Amino acid sequence: MPILRSAFIALSKNRTMRRFSERSSIGRKMSSRFVAGLELEDAIRVAEAVNRQGISVTLDSLGESVTTEGEAQQAAQIYHQLLDQIAARKLNANISVKLTQMGLELSPKLADGIAESLAKHASATNNFLRIDMEDSSLTQTTLNIVRRIHAFPELRGAIGIVIQAYLYRSQADIEQLVAEGIRVRLCKGAYKEPAEVAFPSKADVDKNYVLLSGLLLESPIYHGLATHDEAMIAEAKKFAAKHGIDPSHFEFQMLYGVRRDLQRKLIQEGYNVRVYIPFGREWYPYFMRRLAERPANVIFLAKNFFRA
Ligand code: FDA
Repeated sequence: MPILRSAFIALSKNRTMRRFSERSSIGRKMSSRFVAGLELEDAIRVAEAVNRQGISVTLDSLGESVTTEGEAQQAAQIYHQLLDQIAARKLNANISVKLTQMGLELSPKLADGIAESLAKHASATNNFLRIDMEDSSLTQTTLNIVRRIHAFPELRGAIGIVIQAYLYRSQADIEQLVAEGIRVRLCKGAYKEPAEVAFPSKADVDKNYVLLSGLLLESPIYHGLATHDEAMIAEAKKFAAKHGIDPSHFEFQMLYGVRRDLQRKLIQEGYNVRVYIPFGREWYPYFMRRLAERPANVIFLAKNFFRA
C-alpha cells in the first residue's frame, strides 16, 4: 500500500486531529467538497439538486463507531427522519448506514435491532436501506445481520449490502447473496487490510472487480457498481452489451464531489447513476478516506481553498 494512502488511513483514526478538525471552520470548508453540509436540510437540498440532473442519490448521515447505546439510537433517529423526508419530498433517494454507527461494536444485537427497524421503515415507505461495509473484522457480522433481516418475507428487497472487491472472500459472498436475492453494491474497498485477507496489488483488486461485476450483472437482481474508475466502467458496459443486459437492470454509483463529469456523461448515455451524499458534523474519518484514495486531492483542495 503506498505510503500516503496508509498515512491518510492512519490519520482517519486519529482522535485528536478529528476533534480539532471537526470543530474548525477551515476543516469544514475543506470538507465541503465531499460533504453536503452539517444538517439534514443541507443533504435534502443537495439531493434535490442532484435529482434534477436525472441522478438518484443515497444519503449517509456521517458517523461511525459510537460508544453508547444512546448515541446509536440518536444516529438511528436521523435516518428515520431521512426516510420520512424522502417520502414527503418525493426524492429519488435511499439511505446508506454504517452498522458501527448503530452500535455494532458495543453489541451486535443492538445494531441488528436498529437495522431491522430501519428496514421496516424503508419497506413501509417503499424505500431501501443499504448497509455500508466497514473493515474486515466486521464483514461476517455485517453479512449475518443483512441476511437475517432480508429473510423476513415482508422485508425482502428492502435491505442490501456492500461487497469489497479487495477481499479474497468476496466471490463466495456474492454467490451466496445473489442466491438469496440480496442487492449488492460492489466497491473496491476503502480500509487498510492485511495481505492475509485482501489483494495487496491494485491490479489484482481491479481484476477481481471486473470478475465480480460480471457475476452481479448476469444475476436477475438490480445491483450497484460503485466506482470512479473508467476502466471498470468500460468493462461493465462491455459485459452488459455482450450479454444483452439492459442498462435499466443496474446502476453505477459515485461519491458526491467526485468525477461529476463522468456522472453526467453516463446519464447522457442512458445509464442509471446514483450519487452517495454524506452530511453531518462527524465528517473527519470519511474525508480522510477520500484523501487516502487520491492524495492529489490535498493539492486540489489547498488550491481551491486559497483561491476562495
Ligand atoms: P480507484 O481508487 O482506482 O480510482 C479510480 C479513479 O477514480 C482515480 O484515478 C481518480 O480519477 C478517481 N477517484 C477515485 N477516488 C477519488 C477521490 N476520492 N477523489 C477524486 N477522484 C477519485 N468502500 C468501502 O469500503 N465500503 C463501502 O461501503 C463503500 N461505499 C461506497 C459507495 C460508493 C457510492 C462509492 C463510489 C464508493 C464506496 N466505497 C466504499 C469506496 C470504495 O471502496 C473506494 O475506496 C473508492 O470508490 C475509490 O475507488 P474507485 O473504484 O473509484 O477506484
